[in-house]
Formats: sequence, C-alpha cells, structure tokens
Amino acid sequence: MLTEKFITLGITGGIAAYKAAELASTLTQAGAEVHVIMTRAAQKFIRPITFQALTGQPVHTAMFTRLTGWRVAHVDLATRSDLIVIVPATANILGKLAHGIADDLLSTTLLAATCLVLLCPAMNTGMYQNPIVQANINRLKELGYCIIEPATGWLACGQEGPGRLPALDLIFNQIKDLLIKISDWQGLTVMVTAGGTKEPLDPIRHISNRSSGKMGYALARAALKRGAQVILISAPTGMSPPAGAKVIWVERAREMYEQVLTHASKADVVFKAAAVADYSPRFTANQKIKKKDEVYLLELEKTPDILFELGQRKQPHQILVGFAAETENLEENARRKLAQKNLDLIVANDVTQPGSEFGQDTNIVKIIYPDGKIISLPQMEKTVLAHHILDLVLPLRLKK
Ligand code: CTP
Repeated sequence: MLTEKFITLGITGGIAAYKAAELASTLTQAGAEVHVIMTRAAQKFIRPITFQALTGQPVHTAMFTRLTGWRVAHVDLATRSDLIVIVPATANILGKLAHGIADDLLSTTLLAATCLVLLCPAMNTGMYQNPIVQANINRLKELGYCIIEPATGWLACGQEGPGRLPALDLIFNQIKDLLIKISDWQGLTVMVTAGGTKEPLDPIRHISNRSSGKMGYALARAALKRGAQVILISAPTGMSPPAGAKVIWVERAREMYEQVLTHASKADVVFKAAAVADYSPRFTANQKIKKKDEVYLLELEKTPDILFELGQRKQPHQILVGFAAETENLEENARRKLAQKNLDLIVANDVTQPGSEFGQDTNIVKIIYPDGKIISLPQMEKTVLAHHILDLVLPLRLKK
C-alpha cells in the first residue's frame, strides 16, 4: 500500500515516544521505507535499537555522524522523504519549527524539507493549551504543515485533558490520505456548499452563525484529490478555498439559493455542508441603524430551504447529502430532515458534545441512511472524516 514511499519518522522526547514503535512497524509492514530520527530526549524514553529492528534501517540520532551511503544526513533525509511525520511532537519541536530554529538533526531536517510534514502533538494539557504553543500550532498550520489535534483523556502526568497522542490508526489513516493518490471520484462533478451565510441588517451588521466552513472545505479538498470536478459555493469563511475548485462566493442565503439552483443540474453529488440562515431581515437599512428605544424589534422573513428545493428537483442520477448540527434529539431531528428533504444520506452531529463543537478541526458524527441504518464514527479530523464520507457516498452513486 505504501510501497516505494520513503517516510522519515521523527521522534521527540515525550512519554508517547513508545507508541511510535508500533507506528514504525505498521508503516514498514505497509511497504514504506521508514527512517527514524530520534532527538536526544526521545532516546531517554525508548532505545534506537527498537526502531532499527522494526524498520530494518539504521536510526539517525546525531548531526555529525556519517552513515555509509549517506552524504549529509539531514539533507539526504529531507530530499528523499515523501513524508516526514513527527510522533510525538513536543512543545519544544513545534516551537523550534515555528521559529526556524535548527539545532539538531531532526529540526535541521525539518527546515531543509520541502515534502509533506505531519505533526502529531502530544504533551501535558497545560503545555498544550499554553497560548504560546497554540500560537506556534496556528502558525505552522498557516505555513501548510499538517497537524493532528491531540486526543483528550488520561495523561501520564495524572491529569485528564487534551494532550494524548491520537489513536495510531487515525495517524496511519492520515498518512495514507497524504500519500496515496486515488482517483475513484474521477468523472464526477461534486457541488459543495460551505460556511455560514450572512444576512445584512445595515452596512455594518449582519446575522450569522458559528459555522467555520471547515467541513465543506475538507469535502471539497478530498473530492478534488480523488479526481472529482468541484463546484464550491462558499459563504465567507476566512480560509483559502482548495486550489482546483470552481469557487462561487456568496453571502446571503438567497444568493446561495440562486447559485446552487443555477449549477445543480451539473452536479452528480451535492454536499450541503453550509449552515444557512433560516430567517433574514425583512429590510436592510442603507445607513447604519442608530440606537433609540429600549427595545428594538427586528422583522425577519423565512429564507428558501435550498436543500428542500434540491430534493424536490432531484435528478435520477443525483445524490444529495445533507448535514444536521443539533443540540438535542440528534437522530430524530436528522431523520426528519433526511425524509423531508428527500436526501440519500445525512451527516449529523451534536454540537454540545466535546470534539464536535462548531469551529473545531474535529467532528463526531452519525451517518444516517433512508432505510434507518446508522453509522456512528468516533472523533476524527474533518480532513479524515471527509474521506470517510466520500467512501460511503461512492457506492450509493454507483447504484444509481
Ligand atoms: N439547509 C438549506 N437551506 C436552508 C436551511 C438548511 O439548504 N435554508 C440545509 C443545510 O445546508 C443542511 C440541512 O439543510 O444540509 C439541514 O440544515 P439545518 O440548519 O440543520 O436544518 P433546518 O432545515 O434549517 O431545520 P432547523 O433549523 O429547524 O433545525
């Protein structure tokens, strides 16, 4: 599965370092050539010999030791790697990378690398939540590094909270996602709506919701990666849309409705991930509304239900996937929407549950079919979830 892939596995000094041994073994068994770099602190937790035995390759620990067949280790590893994955990534390595510090073999290799880099932070909750660490993580994300959020649970320091290394199968899936190019969606046109619509009150204010657009963008990116043509109809999100998508920007629910209906006939599959305002101000003031009375009554009118309209006009070859973010009665509400809107699938999440709140990089969803079947997925990155959804939708499309 990963044959001909060259993976550098960087291990830094955290208690989760021992878990990297299993990952090294899984990657090797999947056919990858795995080269391990260990920092000095990592070697306090686990010995290089373990990785040497599991990968069948020498383990790199020192900057200035020359191995036979290698010219300059950090440059050779950086240029030969298809992927560098750091498990666990301590606050220290994140800080060094975010600020361009290169003072050992791993940090030097990371700076020299132009390949994909996946960072798997794991540390004490206090350290992870420290604004300095969070700022470094955000900076690295902006720079294009892939980061898997740590899991929440019991930590070696005796505390409970975010900071655990995520499950190894999740890391392995993310690696496969980054390295394997499949084009099982080639020939299909996918329409994705994303973000939260904005309904203006006046030139300064609007009514909106907390949708980040991350799920919709992840779906668009995953579909593109798997060969589909993507029409992305996006409300403002503050994120750059995936390269390769035909992007149509909208603000109001009514604009989204018009654009979706204009392009719907081209779509084989529609992912209606946008959070659409159900009501919009009846009048939008031309000038800033001034404060006067103690109570201000706002008149709102219903917006069109875009997905309902699509369901009414569904063509025989089309698949419609809806989303339901609920605060109560998740399954009951989602099932009602699935039936009312004539959907093929609905992806439902409870936004009150930690790990699936609005705006996060992760989600915990139930995928519900018209025949009542439910697939409950554990907490995972939206980027990974997007591929799960595509995997489930493709067979439905093939049946049509
Ligand atoms: N949706 C839509 N147009 C709307 C409202 C919702 O296309 N005016 C779509 C959303 O994109 C989502 C699905 O319908 O895929 C469910 O949206 P949601 O806001 O959860 O449900 P509503 O139908 O608006 O119902 P309610 O607000 O009562 O929960």
